[in-house]
Amino acid sequence: MTTTDSLHIQIEKNTHPILNQVDFDQLPFGKYFSDHMFISLYKDEAWVNSRIVPFGPISMHPSMAAIHYGQSIFEGMKAYKAANGDILLFRPWENAKRLNRSADRMCMATLPEDYFLEALTTLIQIDRDWVSAKEGHSLYIRPFMFASEAILGVRPANEYTFMIISSPVGHYYNGPVKLMLETHYSRAAKGGTGTAKAAGNYAAALYPAKIGQQQGYNQQLWTDSSTHQYIEESGTMNIFFVINGTIVTPSLEGDTILPGITRDSIIRIAHHWGIPVEERPISIDELEDAIRSESLSEMFGAGTAATIAHVDSVNIRGVDRKLPDVAKRKFSNEVAQYLSDIRTGKADDIFEWTYRIPR
Ligand SMILES: Cc1ncc(COP(=O)(O)O)c(C=O)c1O
Repeated sequence: MTTTDSLHIQIEKNTHPILNQVDFDQLPFGKYFSDHMFISLYKDEAWVNSRIVPFGPISMHPSMAAIHYGQSIFEGMKAYKAANGDILLFRPWENAKRLNRSADRMCMATLPEDYFLEALTTLIQIDRDWVSAKEGHSLYIRPFMFASEAILGVRPANEYTFMIISSPVGHYYNGPVKLMLETHYSRAAKGGTGTAKAAGNYAAALYPAKIGQQQGYNQQLWTDSSTHQYIEESGTMNIFFVINGTIVTPSLEGDTILPGITRDSIIRIAHHWGIPVEERPISIDELEDAIRSESLSEMFGAGTAATIAHVDSVNIRGVDRKLPDVAKRKFSNEVAQYLSDIRTGKADDIFEWTYRIPR
């Protein structure tokens, strides 16, 4: 990690804020954006011209490298309002590190972790009223970086833009999700970019997800691209099973699964609660057997947007397999509540995961 003094952020306040026009009771994911955004440029091997400006369009050169060759990465995180009005971020250091791992994989500039946190803190201080205190609400934060150099030759760019925008959000899914096991298309391949939060990974997933949605499924359950026998993750979530009282989740070897911060938190909480966890390959046959024999008691997706998404049913080889009643699932309900309590400051922060935005 490079350490630096400061980004020296210039601030231009929005003279036409829209906060009062937002209906916080109707918050489709990503419909509204807060009044300000952060922007910084990487040029001549330094981050310069860091600004917080009114939210709005940006201009770009038609030969900007990100558009043509896809050097574009992002992060997703949330700010929560505690009962005392403090604004809390959940493990933001992990997002800073993951952004840089993604940047390395995509041959992009890295951003010192203290810059990342300084930019986030300054932006959220200015837009703090956008963090709703309503139950289940938060401010979704989207840091992203793209190659902004105007080039046409295929090579890593020398200029990048890093930005942060944010959007108030409520619950991501309205209820338990229906998944479809994907055994034809792939999200990521061995040796590819699946472990990076690279824009292209999401583009590759759109078509299979569209087909699944047309058939009534919320998300695909991705399998490995070489044999389509092993489960990897689901949509934009890591996947967990509880089988015979053990928590099982696909292991991260193989470059194909995004190492989720929610995933890591759940594993640590399970260890702390003394529940056995296995990070290992899990095959479709094992899943099917576990459902049939009723040794599978829970299945859920985990990620920042949804936190925990209980799986209602999963379509395996054309058959919808209904899973146990969500109300009877012990671990996933308890861990969802505990994570929510840590994020909103209700539970003691024994893991030191919370970052309090200074007032
Ligand atoms: C492909 C993919 N897997 C898993 C996750 C979950 O990661 P996290 O818990 O850090 O949000 C995400 C969301 O960021 C994702 O996009």
